[in-house]
Formats: sequence, structure tokens, C-alpha cells
Amino acid sequence: MSRQHESIAPLDRLTPPPDLYGRPRPDRYLAGLDWIASKYVPLVTRKDRYGSRPLEPGNPQELVVATREFVADDVVSLRLTAPGGGLLPRWQPGAHLDLHLASGLKRQYSLCGDPADRYAYRIAVRLLANGGGGSAEVHKELTVGARVEIRGPRNAFPFAADKKVLLIAGGIGLTPILPMAREAAWRGIDWQLIHTGRTRDSLPFAEEVARLGRRHPGKVTVLTDDEHGMPSAAELLARAPEGAAVYCCGPTPMLDALQAAFPASGGKALHFERFSAAPIVDGKPFTLKLRSGRELPVPADKSALEVLRDDNPGTPYSCQQGFCGVCKLRVLSGTVDHRDRKLTDRERANGEMLVCVSRADEGECLELDV
Ligand code: FES
Repeated sequence: MSRQHESIAPLDRLTPPPDLYGRPRPDRYLAGLDWIASKYVPLVTRKDRYGSRPLEPGNPQELVVATREFVADDVVSLRLTAPGGGLLPRWQPGAHLDLHLASGLKRQYSLCGDPADRYAYRIAVRLLANGGGGSAEVHKELTVGARVEIRGPRNAFPFAADKKVLLIAGGIGLTPILPMAREAAWRGIDWQLIHTGRTRDSLPFAEEVARLGRRHPGKVTVLTDDEHGMPSAAELLARAPEGAAVYCCGPTPMLDALQAAFPASGGKALHFERFSAAPIVDGKPFTLKLRSGRELPVPADKSALEVLRDDNPGTPYSCQQGFCGVCKLRVLSGTVDHRDRKLTDRERANGEMLVCVSRADEGECLELDV
């Protein structure tokens, strides 16, 4: 899919026409109108660079599945539109939607379409055999014509469009990266995209990536384990232009390897988005106490959320990385080691805690209002 751009001269650069009697000097009345238009039309229409009037995200919204197609083994792509076919809130590369599924599960999926398409959002979902049921519900229930409640778009992985960028996508991790590659190409910056996976059949949007590569020779590299062997993180980073910012999304082992190898590369900054729970750093064992009085020990290598889900599989969660807020619980007593990126100081002072990432000191007991 290619982004459509129109080149329209700004109103204040248009030469006012000759006056009404054909004299070469601009007519003062028309020149006055032109001045007014140049000042007030952009304010009134507030057009963005995609030529559309931006709307504020109206949350929550119900969208309709307009089209659905398989774009790789076990990966379904959905095109979601407003029920009446109207304009949708705009978004930037790296943004995601929160899907509130009929079962009550909430899941985030990156927007992987074209930000210039203001009438549809595109997401892609890989079916996870051992997931929490969200991907299975999307695959089974979200057929053409089905309705789904969404929040967003929101962006926890913003693309800053530095002068040089290396974009690395592992499998379905292409979803936030593909709009970044198009944005980089559109901006004319120095960019490289690497898409990796087990086999060609496992890579979503392979044809779109191939088209991008044909339009931008030398910019796109596809590496599959069966054809090229699994690349090391150092080999991937070696493709970065000197001083490039690196953006990557993919499986946890790939991201961990890139993080470890990054300091020795010539890269400027590393930005990444994970699919799964953030690794526990410097975890210590502590205890959760429930309203019932039961106590649940949290070992050093497990999150409070994992322990709560072992006890009650219906415990709500979504991102598992401390940014969506779905797992928020109230703490009645005990001192929390807050590790999230979402709660305000006031929320923390009010005893709220995101149990997917936040913990407590060794031996501490957190009494939860659950
Ligand atoms: S699951 Fe998203 S903040 Fe905890």
C-alpha cells in the first residue's frame, strides 16, 4: 500500500490575480480576501500533513471489521472502519489500538496500515497457541461485519524520524515497523529495514515488504532462518548507518540480544517494543495478601501478575509492560516498588499498583484489595 500525497501550494504563496479590470496590479479587494483566507482557513480546517482534518480520539468507539485476510501462516489482518464509514482519529507510526473483546479480554495491536488512510485502521494478529486467549478470540470471532470496541490510537513506541535509522522487525514485529519504514522513505532520511523470521511463509506482509524493497533498492533486507541461518544481533546491528537510531520489534530473545549487543555498535539510540512481559530485573521475593486473608508468595523470577493469574486465570492484564493500566490494583498496605510507565504520583500515593511490573522489597507483604 502506498501513501498518497497531494502537493497543494499554501494559500499565502498564491499570487493574487490581476484586478477585475485586467490591470496587472493585484486587485486590493481580492488581495484582502486572499490575506484573510491565508490566515484563517488553516486555523478553521486545521489540516494535517496528510491533508485531512484531525479528529480527537473519541474513546471508546465501536468499529466494524471491513475486510479480513491471512497475510502469513497463522496471521490474520483486519481492516477496521467506523460503522458509518466516517473519518477516524489520526495516528502516527508506532501507534497501537486497544481492542476490548467481547469476552472481556483487552489486547493491544500495532497499527500497520497507512496513516494517510483516514477511513480504516489495519492490524495484524498472530494466533498464539499458548496465549491468554486474545489472539484466538480475534481469529475466531472477528469476521467481516463483526463489531469490536476499541480505545486509542495511542503511541507508546513513537518514531522520531532521526536522520539515519535502522528498522529491525522479527516476524509479526513488522506491524509497528512497516509504517516507520514508509515514513522514513517519505521523509527521505537514510534508512534500512531488516525483516527476519523462520521461513518466508511465516513473514506477514511479505509481498508489501518486497514492493517496498523494489521501490527503494538496497534499503530492505529479508533474512529467514531456513535460507540464511539465524543472524546474530551484532550482524543485524552492523547494517545500521553510522550514528543511526535503531527501532526494533520482535520476540523477547531477539530484543534481549539486541540490547546486549547495542553498546558495542555504532548506533545512536535503541528503541524497541516487546510482544510479551518485560524481563524481571533485580527481582526479590515478596508476598501478596488477598482480602480473603490468603497469602501468595511471589518468587524473585515471577511477576505479581503471574502469581495472581496462577491463582485466578481471569485476572485482567494486557500489555504486561506497565503502560496500559489494565492490571491496576489497589494496595491496602505495604510499600510498592513502582516500575511502571503509566501511574501518576497521585495514583501511586492513592495506593494504586500495576502488578505486571511493579514489585516490593524482599520480605515485604503487599495487601491487595482483591
Ligand atoms: S498489563 Fe498493562 S500495565 Fe499491566
